[in-house]
Amino acid sequence: MIGCVLLTASATLFAQEQATIMVHANEAKQIIPKEIYGQFAEHLGTCIYGGLWVGENSDIPNIKGYRTDVFNALKDIHVPVLRWPGGCFADEYHWMDGIGPKENRPKMVNNNWGGTVEDNSFGTNEFLNLCEMLGCEPYISGNVGSGTVEELAKWVEYMTSQGDSPMAKLRRQNGRDKAWKVKFLGVGNESWGCGGNMRPEYYSDLFRRYSTYCRNYDGNRLFRIASGASDYDYNWTKVLMERIGHRMDGISLHYYTVLGWNGSKGSATNFTDDDYYWTMGKCREIENVIKKHCAIMDQYDKDKKIALMLDEWGTWWDEEPGTVRGHLFQQNTLRDAFVASLTFDIFHKYTDRLKMANIAQVVNVLQSMILTKGKEMVLTPTYYVFKMYKVHQDATYLPLDLTCDTVNVRDNRKVPLVSATASKDKNGKIHISLSNIDVKNSQEVIVNIPGINIKGFTGEILTSDKITDYNSFENPNKITLAPFKGVKINKGSLKIKLPAKSIVTIELL
Ligand code: AHR
Repeated sequence: MIGCVLLTASATLFAQEQATIMVHANEAKQIIPKEIYGQFAEHLGTCIYGGLWVGENSDIPNIKGYRTDVFNALKDIHVPVLRWPGGCFADEYHWMDGIGPKENRPKMVNNNWGGTVEDNSFGTNEFLNLCEMLGCEPYISGNVGSGTVEELAKWVEYMTSQGDSPMAKLRRQNGRDKAWKVKFLGVGNESWGCGGNMRPEYYSDLFRRYSTYCRNYDGNRLFRIASGASDYDYNWTKVLMERIGHRMDGISLHYYTVLGWNGSKGSATNFTDDDYYWTMGKCREIENVIKKHCAIMDQYDKDKKIALMLDEWGTWWDEEPGTVRGHLFQQNTLRDAFVASLTFDIFHKYTDRLKMANIAQVVNVLQSMILTKGKEMVLTPTYYVFKMYKVHQDATYLPLDLTCDTVNVRDNRKVPLVSATASKDKNGKIHISLSNIDVKNSQEVIVNIPGINIKGFTGEILTSDKITDYNSFENPNKITLAPFKGVKINKGSLKIKLPAKSIVTIELL
């Protein structure tokens, strides 16, 4: 990759930079919905099989077929919502193939993802039971591309009807008496692409038709989500807002931090500082993209009744050498952790409209929380950002002003070296998360929080020697959270020494 990184005049090698932050604790804003910390699990590569699910008879320790190690790790980050079964897979998925006795379930070819044979042993019951065990909301992505209205309507009935309906009876035959609660229903996925290559006008009509027959059974209330735009396709959002309007509860958006869709996307682990800073710029561009989609939504929905759901986001690198093509298995370095922290800092600002986000994907695919190989498992640096940031779930957003140096990166982007966000939780505790993306220089950050009497703090830090560092199966704990002590309290303000390439969360006492 070519290009150059230009540090602004005051930035020198191995120096300490200065930044200031003013947290407006008395101007508390909206709640940060926990659903922006959502996950996505697709029948893709080893996300489901080998990642989440190994089956009851596996010699890999499992709870009713779900990997114990993965399950426990996910419990620990409080997954609020899990999207399934795709992605592109969703528009070729026929849910009836994935219910009933496993030996009778037909096989299919996963045309989108490497032509792998899918045996349907993980289906609706397995998914919804997992959500129940994790204590998270399921987000079902319905098949509009190749499925019928009847098929989707019956799926909703199967999952949520408690009465004496044909699909409820079928569910009972399959061993589940009580209907599940299913709130989030995606009506198609990427309908402009793998989900049917439609025009927004045509898709809008399909949404109206499909969603009409997806009923609210027995107290279950569906939150119907339209298949939204890719990145910069503002026309898609405009047409859907015009033609579907308040018939939808939410509209999705996909944004990947990716070099481009043709050719190499770059190595996940072997990259230069220049590549790294470019990544920071590209990931931060999500803010402009969100703003522009929100501005269009505001024109049609001033009261912000329709939610924006960023149901796919994250980094997309070349697949790891030696892995199956089309399985999108990539390693995850400290660079990916910064993409997560910077993105959350941005998400928090827009939660008056942004009500859900689902990183792609939870295990073994793209920017994963977890990687598995046989019996082994590693937690990625991105996982630790989710762990560190879980304090912001359902907390009240506190606006802040931040002043710091910037770095000029290729593609004409200017990237602030420090990023931060703050919130106040239900118990009144204030948490501040800060990222110093500078690979060489530490930052002295002065944080002022008028009106708050700071008595003490606790903190955690995520960092490593090199920005290219990652957790491998050989060295799974190279990057992990550690206690952070670099804070001095000085007359109601904080002086924080943020080491180079570090992410920190502090709790004020
Ligand atoms: O997350 C991988 C794929 O990216 C999804 O299946 C699709 O929706 C998107 O293009």
